[in-house]
Amino acid sequence: MIAHFHYVLSLGAVFGLFAGFYYWFSKMTGFEYNRSLAVLHFWITFVGVNLTFFPMHFLGLAGMPRRYIDYPDAFAGWNMVASIGSYIGAAGAVLFLIVILEAFIVRRRAAANPWGEGATTLEWTVASPPPYHTFDELPKFKS
Ligand code: HEM
Repeated sequence: MIAHFHYVLSLGAVFGLFAGFYYWFSKMTGFEYNRSLAVLHFWITFVGVNLTFFPMHFLGLAGMPRRYIDYPDAFAGWNMVASIGSYIGAAGAVLFLIVILEAFIVRRRAAANPWGEGATTLEWTVASPPPYHTFDELPKFKS
């Protein structure tokens, strides 16, 4: 139960939030983040959360109840693995802050559309960050 819903919440929702953040970061701020640091952030977080939550499948199947502050020693091994994973995940969170800080300190100017021809929605047609009121005239669509 705990394993399953953390996969939904943490790997599903949280990774989706990160994906959106990285996709629109340059549009929101006008600055590029460091891609290597961002890729490192992904992998550290990915390893951390999987190491945290995958062992919880085994704990749940072995009968560990929810909402306990203490548990029999039989559950200690996988809980230790999960704890190590959570520290790795925490390191990923620190690196995420570093990615943001680095981008604001180094201030690499972002182009209007850093993603190329695959990014076809309207926000990529204006400067990064977008000007006030975004469009002076209503944009025209062609099918
Ligand atoms: C590194 C990140 C996280 C760790 C280490 C973690 C760890 C845990 C653990 C061990 C429990 C079980 C507590 C118990 O049954 O005694 C739990 C419960 C829970 N977690 Fe997480 N979690 C993390 C991230 C998240 C995220 C991102 C969400 C939501 C978006 C979330 C939502 C919940 C909820 C709703 C419960 C159930 C609380 C309850 O039983 O009353 N967790 N978490």
